[in-house]
Amino acid sequence: MKLFTLCSSILLGMFMSWFTGCSSAENSPAIASPDGRIHLTFQLKDGVPFYTVSRDGKDIITASKLGFLLKNGPPFNRNFKVVNSQESSYDQTWTQVWGEVKQIRNHYNQLRIELRQNDPEARQLVIVFRLFDDGVGFRYEFPEQEHLKDFQIMDEQTEFALAGDYDAWWIPVYRYHRYEYIPQRSPISQLDTVHTPLTIETGDGLYLCIHEADLTDYASMTLIGSAGHKLRCDLVPWSDGVKVKTTAPTRTPWRTIQIAEKPGDLVTSWLVMNLNEPNLLQDVSWIKPAKYIGIWWGMHMGKYTWGSGSKHGATTANAKKYIDFAAKHGFYGVLIEGWNIGWDGTWWQNGSLFHFTEPHPDFDIGEVTRYAHSKGVKIIGHHETGADIGNYEEQMEDAFRFCKKYGIDAVKTGYVGDHVVSASGTSEWHHGQYMVEHYRRVVKLAAQYKIMLDVHEPIKDTGIRRTWPNMMTREGARGQEYNAWGENGGNPVDYLTILPFTRMLAGPMDYTPGIFNLKIGNTEHPENRVKGTLAKELAIYVVIYSPLQMAADLPENYENQPAFKFIEDVAVDWDTTLVPHGKIGDYITTVRKDRHSDDWYIGSITDENGRTLEVPLNFLDADRKYVAEIYADAADADWQNNPLAIDIHQVLVDNSTVLKLRLAPGGGQAVRLRPAAEKDAGTIPPYEN
Ligand code: NOJ
Repeated sequence: MKLFTLCSSILLGMFMSWFTGCSSAENSPAIASPDGRIHLTFQLKDGVPFYTVSRDGKDIITASKLGFLLKNGPPFNRNFKVVNSQESSYDQTWTQVWGEVKQIRNHYNQLRIELRQNDPEARQLVIVFRLFDDGVGFRYEFPEQEHLKDFQIMDEQTEFALAGDYDAWWIPVYRYHRYEYIPQRSPISQLDTVHTPLTIETGDGLYLCIHEADLTDYASMTLIGSAGHKLRCDLVPWSDGVKVKTTAPTRTPWRTIQIAEKPGDLVTSWLVMNLNEPNLLQDVSWIKPAKYIGIWWGMHMGKYTWGSGSKHGATTANAKKYIDFAAKHGFYGVLIEGWNIGWDGTWWQNGSLFHFTEPHPDFDIGEVTRYAHSKGVKIIGHHETGADIGNYEEQMEDAFRFCKKYGIDAVKTGYVGDHVVSASGTSEWHHGQYMVEHYRRVVKLAAQYKIMLDVHEPIKDTGIRRTWPNMMTREGARGQEYNAWGENGGNPVDYLTILPFTRMLAGPMDYTPGIFNLKIGNTEHPENRVKGTLAKELAIYVVIYSPLQMAADLPENYENQPAFKFIEDVAVDWDTTLVPHGKIGDYITTVRKDRHSDDWYIGSITDENGRTLEVPLNFLDADRKYVAEIYADAADADWQNNPLAIDIHQVLVDNSTVLKLRLAPGGGQAVRLRPAAEKDAGTIPPYEN
């Protein structure tokens, strides 16, 4: 989005003041959050812009520089004067098309600083700060001007000078597996280059998350450790070393600092989405959060292949079996991978061989989609690009048209590959400006064809689902598939107690939960298994949010399993989200209310330690009884030796009940709370506190 307007908000209480001098008072405009607890000060020190952030008088970010180095021009980080400073406020509540909550309050105070360089070119830079009760966002704007037209950013020098050497949960940048690493915990002073969102624990009662919002036409921001406990923005470069190629007027994404007293409050902070533009799609009737199954896990655990041969998974006959299963159990759709030409051989190195409109000879797409529709089921398309962007972009429009011809309304895309091959043959990072723009072109084109997207090997989420609500879900972390073939036997037992407070702060994830055969049985990777219990697999549906949520296991593994009822019942579109318990890397309990019924769901998971957590059900309506359908680890369950032991039972509860969630080592608990019917009162026992 090259052209921009001043935030399309209702501006309240606006006042303007003009500065031309250089005295420190005049050059230190400050602003507070609506509740007055967070303060931000902007300052020019000898012409260099700085900002600081504090909360309740305690420093969070100490004096941190702002500015750029541009190609072929004097530094754009000094020699500034403030020419204008403007404050405004905004308070409006908006409705999500789908999501973790229905309504989001967007309430902030804004400070807009206009800077000009003290030299004959007098180049201008604007910095806009927004203070919310849950943190800070700021972005740079490059107004239209005579001496800055087409330009290249060689370095964005935004700093985040943390007030102490706090611990952070980080994943590395510039590695083969993109965002697919297990978050590690280290003091900030020890960080090299790390991705965002970066979650930080101050050790004295605050939790922070540094990320970005509305990553549009720009390179993604990574953070690099610099002196002491200071982090600096490090944009992912193009293959020629330039960070961003752009034209004024333009603007950067928002740099965001979320601030919370509890880790769970980071989970329910919507600051990043508030800093994205409102929904651009007029008609959203075709966008439907849903559950799906797929010809998918079979490939990962070695039963099927994507490519041709006797184990080819995507055959017409197999697809019909999956469709029958989806129809019987009320699933929206069936994802079918390996349906098209291009999978034979080392497909992850030969993306140019993929055809997105040519089915494999043993897959009759006309017959499969006809059969699916006759059963009220949708097929979910799959476009694995092998990270060959030129090949995909050439076919993309035909591919989406092809999907629509066969009534396919949702497509999973994939970009497996260390680097991507650009349309001009250069080798680019998944996270640089080239790919940010590619991923967005796909979202826009998909919207034009009314197609929902599930992107694997994506660019990180920065909240653009607000603007493009067909951008449903993405991977962008180690998913369930690592349990089938990943090193060290798969994801560690505490992995999913870290993710909600790190990767998930960016947005929904297609983790693909619901493996019931926890031992998996991949003959090539016999050590691999799911490191959790059956009840934990159910709880993930509530804890790890995705509007397209998969039941990932083979249909045969769900047959005659009472626990499968939870997957059939659980909602995917929520009215309310609460996080009553959370300790990063130890445990989390998430409570959500279905947006389309009166049901509530609870998901609670733990690390390798068993524990009992108490959830007061005071969020329930006061005047009614509910049936709690409980899927708990059995008394003797534990992830290593007895992971399948599950205790499924029902009790009557009300809003004075305090539910004790007993979690086995590596376990979890899933609960559905539905309003009680008259007949339930006589048949279901009351819960005993
Ligand atoms: C990696 C994706 O995460 C996975 O879901 C998919 O099956 C394979 N690539 C093949 O596209």
